[in-house]
Amino acid sequence: MWRCVSRGLRIPSKSSTSADSIRRLFSTQSNAGSPSYTVVDHTYDAVVVGAGGAGLRAAIGLSEHGFNTACITKLFPTRSHTVAAQGGINAALGNMSEDDWRWHMYDTVKGSDWLGDQDAIQYMCREAPKAVIELENYGLPFSRTEDGKIYQRAFGGQSLNFGKGGQAYRCACAADRTGHALLHTLYGQAMKHNTQFFVEYFALDLIMGNDGSCQGVVALNMEDGTLHRFRAASTILATGGYGRAYFSATSAHTCTGDGNAMVARAGLPLEDLEFVQFHPTGIYGAGCLITEGSRGEGGILRNSEGERFMERYAPTAKDLASRDVVSRSMTMEIREGRGVGPLKDHIYLHLNHLPPEVLKERLPGISETAAIFAGVDVTKEPIPVLPTVHYNMGGIPTNHHGEVVTIKGDNPDAVIPGLFAAGEAACASVHGANRLGANSLLDIVVFGRACANRVAEIQRPGEKQKPLEKDAGENTIAWLDKLRNSNGSLPTSKIRLNMQRVMQNNAAVFRTQETLEEGCQLIDKAWESFHDVKLKDRSLIWNSDLIETIELENLLINACVTMHSAEARKESRGAHAREDFTKRDDENWMKHTLGYWENEKVRLEYRPVHMNTLDDEVESFPPKARVY
Ligand code: FUM
Repeated sequence: MWRCVSRGLRIPSKSSTSADSIRRLFSTQSNAGSPSYTVVDHTYDAVVVGAGGAGLRAAIGLSEHGFNTACITKLFPTRSHTVAAQGGINAALGNMSEDDWRWHMYDTVKGSDWLGDQDAIQYMCREAPKAVIELENYGLPFSRTEDGKIYQRAFGGQSLNFGKGGQAYRCACAADRTGHALLHTLYGQAMKHNTQFFVEYFALDLIMGNDGSCQGVVALNMEDGTLHRFRAASTILATGGYGRAYFSATSAHTCTGDGNAMVARAGLPLEDLEFVQFHPTGIYGAGCLITEGSRGEGGILRNSEGERFMERYAPTAKDLASRDVVSRSMTMEIREGRGVGPLKDHIYLHLNHLPPEVLKERLPGISETAAIFAGVDVTKEPIPVLPTVHYNMGGIPTNHHGEVVTIKGDNPDAVIPGLFAAGEAACASVHGANRLGANSLLDIVVFGRACANRVAEIQRPGEKQKPLEKDAGENTIAWLDKLRNSNGSLPTSKIRLNMQRVMQNNAAVFRTQETLEEGCQLIDKAWESFHDVKLKDRSLIWNSDLIETIELENLLINACVTMHSAEARKESRGAHAREDFTKRDDENWMKHTLGYWENEKVRLEYRPVHMNTLDDEVESFPPKARVY
């Protein structure tokens, strides 16, 4: 099918960062003037896809261990969505009061509504203090207490003494721009360690060997349209979430679940996608994030009657109950006619009772965001807010080393050799059915580092690699070529808007069999309509029409798996709140969903939750009712 103009052209160079070979392939669509594809081959010990916090931390660790590492990223690293994280990073440092990583672990297990894997949660919470001190040593400019320690604020769902000691102050922060500080700090470290970046390269597909191992990725250089096969003994996916499957999300427009879709196209499962987190305080209309740190610093949610309604829903934690609880409470207030504004369709977040110096020192970023996007002076007026899609608890299933796992025969934890995932793209599963605020920045640094450490245990720098299969990547190029020449009747933007509306309406904060069944039909139809997509730009140079269309396909795969997984789960747990199955059902549903994308349809399987801990430093926490 492909005609090779120049095969195996060697680039003479000692540098391992240069290409192994370059060849040229012609488009299958024999349109006059249709460009040919230049394919460049590279070999690295490891390739990291994504340059947010997880990708950078993995790349730093790999380079430190002496691995020749490539980091492929569709964005300039410091534009990755980690930059938008505000509130902070949890760790039992004990700077504000006595603390213990076991208390943090208990809160995280409870926050996950007992769907989290307790071995992975133990690993994350125990590593947390080390991870934060490491960031401090890297130069992250944390906010400070009077005596110079890292300042830690209150955050949702965090308690002392296994829920019996009141609110914990565990969230280390750099004012309300912690993600920004963290991302820039890690990028500086990655530069120091000579990670080889391939910036504005869009990873398209995994290269899977016939033995079921991952051998690297195929990527498109968006600047010049060349295609690149990165051969690597280890591939780490750190591609973030897919918030943009929804109409209103705090996620950047670039959060399109690319790594998840690459995994799904490779025939591997995605885990627990039905659990989509709504952050209680997105700005009404604009969707921009107003950090939970604003409630951590004393902010209060009020309804149209001026009532602090969270006292009724979560008498102890109130506004700092976990996010699923607060989002549901706000939705119920609105439904019962106590929303604010002319349409009574949102809620007010009051910060105007806080001292102006606290707002200036601890919450400068959201004070500015509220002024720009809601026209509100936070020292005087409340911010109009609404629960807004914020985070995907589900993703690519991994163990606590970051190795991607799947079911093989009787083994529910079978490792896919050569493939790792970390951060929001992954499902370790430390967040289970509901993530606690400020556990995400923690997840990215702990599991980014875990991937690098695991690679160092099982691989040697410079180890000889198997040659790629002869036709490796050719299906991907054929797929890209077909997409680029799509000539249907629907613009990408129209299909995307339809998908976003379906997800917003049918996989919302509250769900029923009716909304989910209808959602399955509508999202399957949205997928069908993708066959009729039309691209106007056929070029290969900065073709944003093509990139958005690939991103749309990726989003659609994530959306389909989400909706079908949600329809199947007949219980309420964490962020999956069903009005027809209002209780958590541990007997039938304490299990992880695995969603496969097969022949353009979703197929579901289940694997057990890990209730075990890693060792006897802590006992596992048996399920109980979750109240705040
Ligand atoms: O509210 C926030 O600052 C968000 C934090 C998080 O999602 O971890």
